[in-house]
Amino acid sequence: MLVFSTSDKGGTGRSVTSCNIAYRLCLSGHNVAYVDFDFGSPTAGALFEISAMERGTSLGGTHSYLLGEQGTVDRVDIGTATDRTELKRVGPRSGRLVLFPGDEGGAEFLTCDDEMVQRCVELLATLEQEFPVVVVDLSAGRSIALEITLKATALPQLRRHTARWLIFHRWTRQHILAASGLVYGQNGLLQSGTLYGHDQDELLGSLRYVRTAVPDTNSHLSAQRAAQAAWLQEQDAALRRLATANRLGTTAVLGATPIEPVLQCREQLILDSDVNAHIANNETAQAYIELARSLVDNATWERL
Ligand SMILES: Nc1ncnc2c1ncn2[C@@H]1O[C@H](COP(=O)(O)OP(=O)(O)O)[C@@H](O)[C@H]1O
Ligand SMILES: [Mg+2]
Repeated sequence: MLVFSTSDKGGTGRSVTSCNIAYRLCLSGHNVAYVDFDFGSPTAGALFEISAMERGTSLGGTHSYLLGEQGTVDRVDIGTATDRTELKRVGPRSGRLVLFPGDEGGAEFLTCDDEMVQRCVELLATLEQEFPVVVVDLSAGRSIALEITLKATALPQLRRHTARWLIFHRWTRQHILAASGLVYGQNGLLQSGTLYGHDQDELLGSLRYVRTAVPDTNSHLSAQRAAQAAWLQEQDAALRRLATANRLGTTAVLGATPIEPVLQCREQLILDSDVNAHIANNETAQAYIELARSLVDNATWERL
């Protein structure tokens, strides 16, 4: 299964959430490849706490591979390379988690040619033979990363592979409108995808939203005063209406993550040891477990 993580805006929680989903899938026994296609900001190494690779690899990453500068992408076994001791000790029933990093000093592509698309096809087809789940973290917005992967997945070599598109957005007015625009707007995912040869309904059926850092407006922790609590609850209801009106309603949602204090200060995986040490919230870990479960559950992907 190919999973493409995208968002209209940067800073939506796309990478942090995708890494945590990949990690939870690995814990539940899946072999997972995590491919960094956020060419302008290839920071997946930092999320997995690989200090030698905080800003991408110097050994040839996804960016130089797509340009044809080398024939393969550097691969990093996360359990071996991470500095986090607890992450090295995944249980015997866990799968493997392997990072295919971006290039240190890489940059966003300005154009996309057929050769890049073909190399992308080859990379994803090869990875899918080895990894049942391949998570590809794309650059934000209507990027070349989105164009390359939309074109690649429309070609016959990848057409028979299962592809899922996850659109990440924060739980605010602007983010809801932006996420809807990325999918339904001009030059958006559906319009471009159809132009490149996708079936529009099929593409729409393979797409779900992930709401990140959603405040719990029913919790006394969210508001300090009664008037504030009432206002926050009203806003939450208004956001729900806005999401539904913009076709991001609950039936199209894969799941949501709560606001996590750890992630407000530091981008990282939320391990069970963080929860057991009472540092991270259990609700956050549970949200990632549930997102991972829903992602690979066929029932999630039945036609809306
Ligand atoms: N559930 C959450 N609660 C609080 N902060 C979060 C949550 N998820 C992500 N973040 C934070 O939001 C910021 C942006 O996340 P990131 O994954 O880098 O976004 P993107 O990849 O979309 O640019 C990071 O500082 C991250 O730690
Ligand atoms: Mg990111």
